[in-house]
Amino acid sequence: NENKETITIGFSQSIDNDLWRKSMDHAMEVETLLHPNAKLIIYNADRKVKKQIQDVEKMIQQNMDVIIIAPYESDSIVPVIEKANRKGIPVIIVDRKVNTLNYTAFLGADNVEVGKLAGKQIVSLSKGKGTVVEIRGEIVTYPGIERSKGLQQILSKYPGIQKISIDADDFNSPKSKFVKLLDSLSIDYVFGFNDLIAYNAWKIAKEKRPNNKIKFIGVDGLNGTNGGVEFVKEGVLTGTILYPTGGAEAIKLALKIKNKEIVPKMNKLNTTLIDTLNAEIMSSQFDKISLQQSDIENQQHFIKEQLQKYSSQSNLLKALIVL
Ligand code: FRU
Repeated sequence: NENKETITIGFSQSIDNDLWRKSMDHAMEVETLLHPNAKLIIYNADRKVKKQIQDVEKMIQQNMDVIIIAPYESDSIVPVIEKANRKGIPVIIVDRKVNTLNYTAFLGADNVEVGKLAGKQIVSLSKGKGTVVEIRGEIVTYPGIERSKGLQQILSKYPGIQKISIDADDFNSPKSKFVKLLDSLSIDYVFGFNDLIAYNAWKIAKEKRPNNKIKFIGVDGLNGTNGGVEFVKEGVLTGTILYPTGGAEAIKLALKIKNKEIVPKMNKLNTTLIDTLNAEIMSSQFDKISLQQSDIENQQHFIKEQLQKYSSQSNLLKALIVL
């Protein structure tokens, strides 16, 4: 709609080469296509704190209508968020929390809840007895801290459950902490802070102890190849806790804010356990969403083509009239 003013949304993504992040970007792109007057520009900081700050600086300079940030780190990004806020540019924070409240809205699932759901699955499968290894992500971030907290809240009620925490950062070394634990301990459950961590642990355990009975639980629950839902269906993971990216919701929220609608400051995305009982139905639901997404993309592509044809035809017509 050319009569409407264009709304430019800038999105600062923190991590590249990651299925979950790509799925977030894609959901944002598709949602944006549904709003002809909206334009989305994505910057990727590729895990570099400085680059992310520069990206947001650029968006402020370009006077974007709304800025969405998926922060890599929770402190260093604060000054630039506050700067945008001072300039009156609405800022939406997604996924990882930041150490300021000077933004417009936050959107994300509750990570304490994520940890609790994993804990509850372990308790129900183990009947309150066993050894659990929690494998945290590579850096200390809010999701990690809160997932750990949620797990602890549940497991601490069961004296028969022993928990050990390690970091995933040295997975590639043959002497990684997980390998050492496999040698020294009889492990019953592994809770990986995302599906990839859980999958990597499963692979290591399978190689080292082909007959192990360890049950692996992850987080994210993406659909498709190498996604958590697939891992559950294949029996690699016993469960995964759905951690929605909120891509589409973030764009919707940005447009509401731009239209001066009142929105809640805290916008919670739902999470749930995906296990062998519901993995099939979850993946068929997700497939439907993917189909809808590609329908939207195809239709937009078709409309663009038609518009191009139309404009070249009308140019031709104009030229003929002039003749
Ligand atoms: C992807 C990711 C997800 C996780 C989220 C937490 O980069 O590690 O696996 O759920 O980020 O911020």
